[in-house]
This record gives sequence, structure tokens and C-alpha cells, in this order.
Amino acid sequence: MHTNTSDERPTFVTHLECSLTGEDYPADVLHGLSRAGKPLLVRYDLAALAAALDKDALARRPPDMWRYREFLPVRRAANIVSLGEAMTPIIAVPRLGSRLGGGELFIKDEGRLPTGSFKARGLGVAVSMAKELGVKRMAAPTAGNAGAALAAYCTRAGIESYVFCPEDAPEATISEIALNGARVWRVNGLINDCGKIVGDGKDAMGWFDASTLKEPYRIEGKKTMGLELAEQFGWSLPDVIFYPTGGGTGMIGMWKAFAELGEIGWIGPGRPRMVAVQAAGCAPIVKAFEAGAEHAEPWPDAHTIAHGMRVPVAIGDFLILRAVRESGGFAIAVTDEAIEAARAEVAHAEGLLLCPEGAATYAAYKQALSDGRVGRDESAVLFNCATGLKYPMPTVDNHLDRHKPIDYASL
Ligand SMILES: Cc1ncc(COP(=O)(O)O)c(C=O)c1O
Repeated sequence: MHTNTSDERPTFVTHLECSLTGEDYPADVLHGLSRAGKPLLVRYDLAALAAALDKDALARRPPDMWRYREFLPVRRAANIVSLGEAMTPIIAVPRLGSRLGGGELFIKDEGRLPTGSFKARGLGVAVSMAKELGVKRMAAPTAGNAGAALAAYCTRAGIESYVFCPEDAPEATISEIALNGARVWRVNGLINDCGKIVGDGKDAMGWFDASTLKEPYRIEGKKTMGLELAEQFGWSLPDVIFYPTGGGTGMIGMWKAFAELGEIGWIGPGRPRMVAVQAAGCAPIVKAFEAGAEHAEPWPDAHTIAHGMRVPVAIGDFLILRAVRESGGFAIAVTDEAIEAARAEVAHAEGLLLCPEGAATYAAYKQALSDGRVGRDESAVLFNCATGLKYPMPTVDNHLDRHKPIDYASL
């Protein structure tokens, strides 16, 4: 049987590059941050890639993330660590669209991936590369979903994993991390405090730091969201993308995907406007965007029910801001109340249970439509990055006594 994870395919990585200074680094050796302390970006021989793969050959492959193998860094099929990363659906939500009087509206539902979130993309590729490069132990801070994916892929790869999360992270994700085989610790702090524990523990524990953007390959996995979106839209793209932004890997990854597709001529020069959605209680990127700053200030007293967006300091802040500005997009903050109302509205109207971060994109879309930042003729894709089932839901207090007559008319 031919599969994307068993067939050997040519690979095209030439080197890595510091995202700030442009300094080159060799491929096929283990890297963390660049010497300037910034994320490294993987570079490919895109001309050779385009000569080796065309859209028709791609269309014939099984529908999973590894169909984009030539755009990914893993050299040998045997090193691919997979749990079945299906392509995620783009679901039209016409009832919401017509209610708001906006343009075509879609939700890309990343909750269908292994471990119930888009973190499977990034960590699937990062753990595959770790396996290829001989890593035996990994560690990461997490708001919940990244840890669940790290645990699952590491277990699958035979790599030990350690995960540190804020003590109030969603309970389902903490249990999931433990069940998937990681050693998980609740920390009385935020995700950046957890990140410090991982960084400080490197010498004592000899683990590889898999924090967001502190290793180069999670971005490559997240890049497949952009490749997949372009393919699903017939190699064109929507006018606007709303993305719930914490560390920003998805935003940066998609922007990189569009650049690479543009360079090989698979898409035209048009790009979606990229909108970074944050919570009012933790909006460092929004503040920096509005101030015209290149970097964000740490956000004090970060709080929101959308745990994945509770990231007070993002090491890739300048890359997020660059993608937003180059695309002609914007950054926008929504309150927790608006997030909760949006989650209920989408579930009631369309039968789609979003995670709070996904619901934030709908709240932001509504806000942007009413203040004119998004046009009524613009098509928009909202990213729901995780299944809604992992998060607290309103309790239901309707009880029926089967031993008494039931007044059906009052149900
Ligand atoms: C459900 C969900 N949405 C959004 C995010 C933010 O993602 P990124 O780090 O790509 O900005 C996270 C990260 O934890 C998440 O779990």
C-alpha cells in the first residue's frame, strides 16, 4: 500500500536561517534558537521542489498532512511519527454569515486532528525531526494542547517527555498529557514561567527544549495549515484569515506557507489579510500592533478563559507582527464575555462546538464586521484550533422523574 508516511520521497531542505539576522545554519543537526536568541526558519530549494512535485500528483495522494512531504524537513520515511493527521474540513457556516450580513464565512476545524488540536501538526513534525536527529528526551511548557500532542508523539516515537503547565490549565488536557505517557507538572505560574523551568532544567535533565519557536520544526508542521487551506480552496485563498494568537506559530507558519507557494507559482500574488485575535486580558500583540512597534511588551497579569492565547511574552512577536502588517491585516482583542457568547452562538446556530480560542475568532469577526475592518463582501476563514470537548461547558440541570406522568407539552 502506498502511503504518505511509508513512501520515500525527495526532500529539499538546504539550510536554516535566523529570522532576525538572516545568518545561515546547517541542516540535519540539532538546533534550538539562533545565536541572536531568535527563532530559526527552515529554507528549501524551492525550484527543485517545484520540479519534483506538481499539483496533480499531490491531488492523488492520501488526504493527510504528510502529503506535503516535499515541503517538510523529515528526510527518511522511517522517522515519520504519525497518529493519522487527517486533513481538516473547512466548514461553511451560512446561517451565521447571513445573520451578520457579511461575506462567505468558513470555519477550519482543527479539532479533528490527533489529540484534538492543531498542535498535532507542529509536534508531529518536531518529534519526527527529534527522532531523526537522535533526541531521547523532550520537554515543553504548555497551555494544555501542545503538551498533549508532545506526550502522544513522544510516546509513539519512544522518546521520554516532560510537560509543565499552568496549574489551572484545562483539566481534560492535563489528564490527557499524563495518559499519553508524559511526566506532567502543574506550575503555580503562567506559560512563560513554565518555559523558564524547561530552559533552566536543560543541563540537569539533558532534555531537548520543544517550546514554541525555540526549535525550528513546529513552524514547519503548522505550515501545513496554510498549504492545506490553499489546496482546499483550489489554489486560491480567502480574503481574510482570523487566527487565535498565543505564541503565533500558526500565523507565522501559514504566512511562510503562502510565501513558499507564491515563490513556486502555485498561488498568485494575492494574500489573505491575516488577523491576529487575542483576549482583552492578554493582548500584547494587539497593543504592539496599535502602537506601531516591532516587538511586544510583556503583558502584566495575563488572564483569559482562552488558555491557548494566555501568552504574555511571545518570542516570535516580531514575526507575528510582520505577517499581520505585510498582509494588510490587523490585530484585535475580544473580551471573555464575548468569547463565551460566541461559543454558544456558533454551537446553537451551526452545531459546531468550538474551543474558547476558536470562539474568539468568531467574536473578533463580528466586531471587525461591525466596525468596518472587514468588508461585507470579503470571504473569511476562522480557525478553530481544538475540539470544544476539552473545555468546561455549561451544566444542564433538567431532570425527569420517570415514575411520574410526564407533561410532554412543557418539555
Ligand atoms: C486551542 C488553541 N488555540 C490557539 C492557540 C495559540 O496558538 P499559537 O501558539 O499558534 O499562536 C493555542 C496554543 O496553545 C491553542 O491551544
